[in-house]
Amino acid sequence: MKTVIKNGTVITAGDTIKADVLIEGEKITLIGKDLPTEGCEVIDAAGKYVIPGGIDAHTHLDMPFGGTTTADDFFTGQRAAAFGGTTCHVDFALQQQGDTMVNGIKMWKAKAEGKAVIDYGFHVAITVPTMESVNEIPKLWDEGVSSLKVFQQYKGAFMVDDTTMYLAMQKAAESGILIMCHCENGDVTDIVTKQRIAEGKIEPKYHLDAHPAAIEAEASARAIALAEVTGANLYIVHMSCEESVEQLRIGRKRGAPVMGETCTQYMFKFEDDMRVPGYEGAKWACGPPVRKPKDAAYLWESLKDTTLLGVATDHCSFNYEGGKDGGKPGKELGKEGFHKIPNGIPGIEDRMYVMYHNGVNSGKISVNRFVDITSTGPAKALGLYPKKGTISVGSDADIVIWDPEKEMTISAKTHHMNVDYNAYEGMKVKGFPVRTILRGKTIVENGEWKQEKGAGQFVARGKAQLL
Ligand code: URP
Ligand code: ZN
Ligand code: ZN
Repeated sequence: MKTVIKNGTVITAGDTIKADVLIEGEKITLIGKDLPTEGCEVIDAAGKYVIPGGIDAHTHLDMPFGGTTTADDFFTGQRAAAFGGTTCHVDFALQQQGDTMVNGIKMWKAKAEGKAVIDYGFHVAITVPTMESVNEIPKLWDEGVSSLKVFQQYKGAFMVDDTTMYLAMQKAAESGILIMCHCENGDVTDIVTKQRIAEGKIEPKYHLDAHPAAIEAEASARAIALAEVTGANLYIVHMSCEESVEQLRIGRKRGAPVMGETCTQYMFKFEDDMRVPGYEGAKWACGPPVRKPKDAAYLWESLKDTTLLGVATDHCSFNYEGGKDGGKPGKELGKEGFHKIPNGIPGIEDRMYVMYHNGVNSGKISVNRFVDITSTGPAKALGLYPKKGTISVGSDADIVIWDPEKEMTISAKTHHMNVDYNAYEGMKVKGFPVRTILRGKTIVENGEWKQEKGAGQFVARGKAQLL
């Protein structure tokens, strides 16, 4: 099966060129001017951009969390991702108490099996702080997993102490595994939460008191210091504020092996959205929390100047009004107190066009940097490159035909995520994916779904590049 994409503008992280792209089977085999079309399906991309499929470095599908399970599973979440122009994501598998990390990975592979419609990989979180867990780290390679998550947050659940973190980083450095870290001081969150609840301060806005920017910055600095002394490569996830990204900037300047991502929601949702009267603020409860507009401005600058390597979603969907008709409980669980709100915000579908419209159309970033932060950077940082994350001969033909003129208004009424609200409700965007191609096969075309359930593949990842 051969396909030629004709007349488009190919955009990679480094180049903008008028060229045709030949796809043979699942791979890109030629890029050039006026490629012959004989024996090929022809896709006319005149007036459109031809960009690498989006890569979301941070998602949570079918994850038990906060007394419930995320609303999106591997089918609904990945299908929504494809509608938004994302063709690959890396999800977080969790080590279960009393069990191994390898079994955690196997459990998450089973969740995706038969449901996947785009390609995917896994990070795994170490949650059992023992030497057995630490000594298991080199075995992650056998599972095709090249990154290990440590939590400095969620005391009593996923959080590990500094000793475990140090030992895990030492072992990761020896075995070439990337450390991903949720940087927030979980001891402080825990005690402030207990104090507020004891005072009867139960509304969603008190979630902000338990997650101040200073404890994200402190935990980031601590993780960076441990990366420096152990030599582990560190990737800080979901950086939300100026204070923590400042620590990233300082660490990188002195040569620490660290890189960081932010997430789409931190540019558009703010503390004031959590302070609204009533319970509505629960929609935006996540950790680290949403911050201030000045933080969003700093994040945009840091994406532009490459201090931040990319933008993920941390897609972790819970219905605002969950538990209806036997469905999974959702955000309503926190009506008894903000400490019971399942933390997370949906966005796997929206990331590409929200970032394009607000980044490229407004002149904050170039279209090449847009490709870099949504696809190429994450691919390099997670050991997926050059199989994924670029348009290059030999790469998987994961391609999005992007119409820079197409306009759309975002709404939960029309999105494909299995959740009853949207963080970008009512936002009008210009620039939208009109065709999503996964390994040479069109899976979405002009809003029409064309993929078979189960056709997405697990991708065994290589060694991460430190960007
Ligand atoms: O609030 C969040 N971020 N939920 C997902 C779990 C995590 O910490 O990444
Ligand atoms: Zn986290
Ligand atoms: Zn997360």
